[in-house]
Amino acid sequence: MKILVTGGAGFIGSHLTELLLHEGHTVTVIDNLVTGRSENLQHLKGHPNLEFIIDTVLNEERMRHLVPHHDIVMHLAAAVGVRWIIENPLLSIETNIRATEVVLEAAETNGTKVLLASTSEVYGKNEKVPLTEDDDSIIGATQITRWLYANTKATDEFLALAYYRDRKLPVVIVRYFNTVGPRQTGRYGMVVPRFVRQALNGEPLTVYGNGEQARCFTDVRDAVRATAELAMKPEAVGEVFNIGNPREISIRALAELIIRMTGSRSTIRYVPYSEAYPAGFEDMRRRVPGVEKLRQLLGWAPRIPLEENLARIIDAMRTEVMNG
Ligand SMILES: NC(=O)c1ccc[n+]([C@@H]2O[C@H](COP(=O)([O-])OP(=O)(O)OC[C@H]3O[C@@H](n4cnc5c(N)ncnc54)[C@H](O)[C@@H]3O)[C@@H](O)[C@H]2O)c1
Repeated sequence: MKILVTGGAGFIGSHLTELLLHEGHTVTVIDNLVTGRSENLQHLKGHPNLEFIIDTVLNEERMRHLVPHHDIVMHLAAAVGVRWIIENPLLSIETNIRATEVVLEAAETNGTKVLLASTSEVYGKNEKVPLTEDDDSIIGATQITRWLYANTKATDEFLALAYYRDRKLPVVIVRYFNTVGPRQTGRYGMVVPRFVRQALNGEPLTVYGNGEQARCFTDVRDAVRATAELAMKPEAVGEVFNIGNPREISIRALAELIIRMTGSRSTIRYVPYSEAYPAGFEDMRRRVPGVEKLRQLLGWAPRIPLEENLARIIDAMRTEVMNG
């Protein structure tokens, strides 16, 4: 198949591109490199079935021409990362809402299937365990910029579902829970790469709050496997799926594990949320994905344990640190 991956030079997008090429598909990547990096696709450079376009999805003219030549658009381009969003609220709204609209409008021309990457953030403060796809979005006040991400992604979901219902456009929505692996950058507040970098540099690992908040981490290879399979499955059309590994770990235990695995002398420094983020920042105690829907449709279950994932991330970052 011919597949267009928006945000394909990003963390998840580059792993997805790799898998799709490996499966024999032809892939076009469009990415404006705002948070992504060309180096993420370096190892695929010169692949006969890969085309890499550096441009924004907001370029309507280009998207109008590009999208109808593809069987599927996997729309991953987005403003991502709590810190990035807090620092760039206007651009985040434009990227997350208008860009999705551009993709859907262009897809409608030929009825190109659209897979939309959404997020567990749409559940907001809902702490039900586990969270299933039809659970409520409990999103905080508009004055708290952090909630902009959840709101814009929820709007994307509404948009995609409206195109499905009103215009019969085939859409599939996936909600990634914390996805981790090599190539993820720690610059915008992602905890695993930040901890690994701190441990490798012998700096204290900065844990926000008391570290008892728990998270579930999915190996990016498990996540892209589910994504690619869902995109091909006719039964997935018009549906929303959680993609995540339900195994929980507290942030403190994660920090300890990373210190142990890197053999670092780093200590843990507890930082109040008020020092790390603007006033009124809210965090969830836990967020566990319910993945029964995915299991039923695909027989999917996460295969790669956190320790194996961390070992790969540590290896990749050690090489990066050594190469400066
Ligand atoms: N990593 C996670 O844990 C996670 C969790 C939930 C949802 N998601 C979603 O998965 C998708 C990929 O996230 P990621 O973690 O790989 O982040 P990422 O920042 O590495 O990827 C996003 C990519 O989109 C590109 N991009 C942004 N704006 C663009 C534009 N206007 N035009 C073209 N390209 C643009 C960026 O340069 C980047 O390469 C996003 O939609 C994100 O919301 C990720």
